[in-house]
Amino acid sequence: MSDRPRLVVLASGRGSNLQALIDAIAAGTLAARIVAVYSDRRDAGALQRAREAGIPAHALAPRQYPSRAEYDAALFARIDAETPDLIVCAGYMRLIDPREVEFRRGRIINIHPSLLPAFKGLRTHAQALAAGACEHGASVHYVTADLDGGPVIAQARVPVLPGDDAETLAGRVLEHEHPLLVETVRWLAAGRIALPADAAPEAPIHVDGVPHAPLQLASNQRFA
Ligand code: GRF
Repeated sequence: MSDRPRLVVLASGRGSNLQALIDAIAAGTLAARIVAVYSDRRDAGALQRAREAGIPAHALAPRQYPSRAEYDAALFARIDAETPDLIVCAGYMRLIDPREVEFRRGRIINIHPSLLPAFKGLRTHAQALAAGACEHGASVHYVTADLDGGPVIAQARVPVLPGDDAETLAGRVLEHEHPLLVETVRWLAAGRIALPADAAPEAPIHVDGVPHAPLQLASNQRFA
């Protein structure tokens, strides 16, 4: 990646993870540039946050395309025109066509609110509570054709506390998602993490050439 890697962010919702990236870049703690934000929802708060930060922000409506494949082909044609080094799914709620994913292998990451491989899919906090988990958290992983199943890069753990409901647990996890995403993007932008081009999707991530288990971040850890 160049000195200031180019990021494209995909987001469907309020955009607090996008905001964490915007704030880190503005503070000079993340050497990267968000060149565009794309959403499948015109009303996504993420688009507003992007515009307020002076970042081009675009909505592309899925219903205007006959199929997922055609929607994603159009979306990623636009994204490719931005020549991103990294595509960050930050609360992007649509499945991406496997062909588009495989074509960009190792260049799309996602933040998921669970300690993968536990609790894939939706309503992860309710899933964790229903399972009686005493620990929960968030993961940043490479996006592959396997939903929420790509190689995990980094995780943040939080305790499940007595009296937690899905909302309180989600709030505690979200606080840790932001530094987790920023730190992971920082490592990727600095070229410290890469998915080997010929590796199987389940192959371990290598950090500085050393086989690396997912980075585990304690619940009280804060990044500089
Ligand atoms: C986060 O919990 C993220 O992990 C999940 O969706 C939520 C998005 O939050 N995929 P925000 O839009 O970044 O505030």
